[in-house]
Parts: sequence; C-alpha cells; structure tokens
Amino acid sequence: VTQRFQLLGDPVGHSISPEIHAAAFQAWGLDATYTAVRVSALGLEAAVGHERLRGGNITVPHKLRAAALVDEASPEVRATGACNCFWRDDGVLHGTNTDVGGFIRALEGLGVDVEGTRVLLLGAGGAARAAAHALTGLGVGALDIRNRTLSRGRLLAQRLGPEVSTQTGPPTGRYDLIVNATRLGLDPEDGWPIDLRAVDCAVVFDMVYAAGGTAWVRHARALGLPAQDGLPMLVHQAALSLRSWFPDRTPPLANMLYAAEAALETRAAAWAPEMPAL
Ligand SMILES: NC(=O)c1ccc[n+]([C@@H]2O[C@H](COP(=O)([O-])OP(=O)(O)OC[C@H]3O[C@@H](n4cnc5c(N)ncnc54)[C@H](OP(=O)(O)O)[C@@H]3O)[C@@H](O)[C@H]2O)c1
Repeated sequence: VTQRFQLLGDPVGHSISPEIHAAAFQAWGLDATYTAVRVSALGLEAAVGHERLRGGNITVPHKLRAAALVDEASPEVRATGACNCFWRDDGVLHGTNTDVGGFIRALEGLGVDVEGTRVLLLGAGGAARAAAHALTGLGVGALDIRNRTLSRGRLLAQRLGPEVSTQTGPPTGRYDLIVNATRLGLDPEDGWPIDLRAVDCAVVFDMVYAAGGTAWVRHARALGLPAQDGLPMLVHQAALSLRSWFPDRTPPLANMLYAAEAALETRAAAWAPEMPAL
C-alpha cells in the first residue's frame, strides 16, 4: 500500500519539499508519496486527521494551530507552541517541530558553536521561535531579538530565559552570529533584513533561501563574512521529519540536498523573464 504524506499550508505552490521527500523515497525504493496541499485554517483539522494519511508537514500559517491538534506533542512543540511535522501511529496523532533540529544541524554545518556567544535574531514569528528555542538550548550567552512589531518580539523574549532580551534602536557591539528569521528576502523586491555594513558581526545565517543564495547572503559574502542561506536547514528539517516517520531508516541527505538545489533552480528559471531571441 502506498504511504501518503502531505505538506499542509497556504500558500504551498512555491514549496520544494515534495521534490526533497521524493528524492528520499526514491533512494530508499519506498512506495510513498508526498504532495503539497493548500489548506485553509478551517480545513486543517480534517486534513491532519485524514485516516489515509500516514503523516506530513505543516507550514505557514498553520504551525501554531497544528500544535493544538496533535494528541502527543514533542518537547519541541510544547516549548515553541508550533508543530511542523505530524504522523499517525496506532491511531495516535504525534507532532514535533523539526525546524528546531534543522536549524541546529545547519549551524553545525556552518561550523558555528553558539555556547556563550552573543547572537542577534531578527524576527519573532514561527521560525524565530524555533531558532530562539534552539539557541537557548545550546547555551547562547546573550540573545538579542529584534522584530518589526515590538510587542511580538517582547512576547517571544518573555517565554525564554534571562539571557534573552528585545531591543530597539540600532544594534551595537559585536555579534558572533546574526540570524534572519523574518520573511524578508522571499520576494526579490525585498530590502535586506539589516545592512551588515552597520553592524559588527562574525557569521550570518539566513533562514530564507534562494537559488544561488539570497541577496542578503550574497551581501554578507561580498563583505567577506561566512554566510549560509536556509536551504541546508530546510533539508535537515525534512530529514528529521523522515526520521520521525521512519525511525529505522537513514535519510539520504546528499540526494535530498541535490534535489532541493535542482528544484530551486527550476523555480528560479520558471520566473526569469524570457530571453530575447538573438
Ligand atoms: N529554511 C527553513 O527550513 C525555514 C523554516 C521555517 C521558516 N523559514 C523561513 O523563515 C521566514 C519566516 O517564517 P515564519 O514561519 O516565521 O513566518 P511568520 O510567522 O509569518 O513570521 C514572519 C516574520 O517576518 C517579519 N516580517 C514580515 N514582513 C516584514 C517586513 N516587511 N519587514 C520586517 N519584518 C517583516 C514578521 O514581523 P512582524 O511580527 O512585525 O509581522 C515576523 O517576524 C520565511 O521566509 C520562511 O520561508 C525557513
């Protein structure tokens, strides 16, 4: 019997998760499908609970709502209030948050150890919650959260420890790491989350991803800073989702990353203006 998995969100058309999971199923020789399905807030409960679905992922804007729908919430879901991965075992609906582990593994890939360091986190939405939880769990020394809507930033900081604060005004002092967890960079017309010429920082991590790196990551690299966009994090969160669904199997990371890069390039090419005929 084909095992069915879905990505539930709104919108989902731009997602490359189907290609990433298809690459894993193919490498494993597994009879399984993963499709992106656009679901409204009202339709989410029925979609998650569909009896023919083995599991799936949840994306914007439903991660918080999904956290309340699962029977068994992981510690990451309880800590962040957000669920991006669910599966059914013996009739019990389980939920976890693989953005947390995906972020941690992507940081490791960048060679960053955040213990005792000073970090600037831009944003206070679902992705920022996952990053903030990961960073405090890793023993960050000081976490400075900045968000366009101050009250949201304050709310996130309050949920965390005394090492976390929200500030206003331009960032000062040296940061060991800056993380963009806003959505700035998704649209090619977007400005930078922050002008890196105006901050003293060592390493740059962008949760947003784009073929060839986001404009902000390219800005960082042009300044000589080590910088990573969100693609490895996306692939790692997909691998952790696969581990939740298939605990006995090892996700084929290289195949998944290759499929992700190819899918991004296909999307980028599809959006490029037509070349004039020679
Ligand atoms: N790489 C990965 O695996 C991965 C995983 C999760 C998310 N992401 C990416 O992370 C980004 C955020 O996702 P999310 O789930 O956290 O979304 P979200 O919950 O909707 O939060 C969006 C965040 O962006 C800020 N923002 C939106 N427009 C802005 C603007 N014009 N100027 C300044 N700040 C702005 C929001 O600030 P306000 O509070 O002021 O609205 C909020 O902090 C998305 O681009 C998503 O694709 C990547």
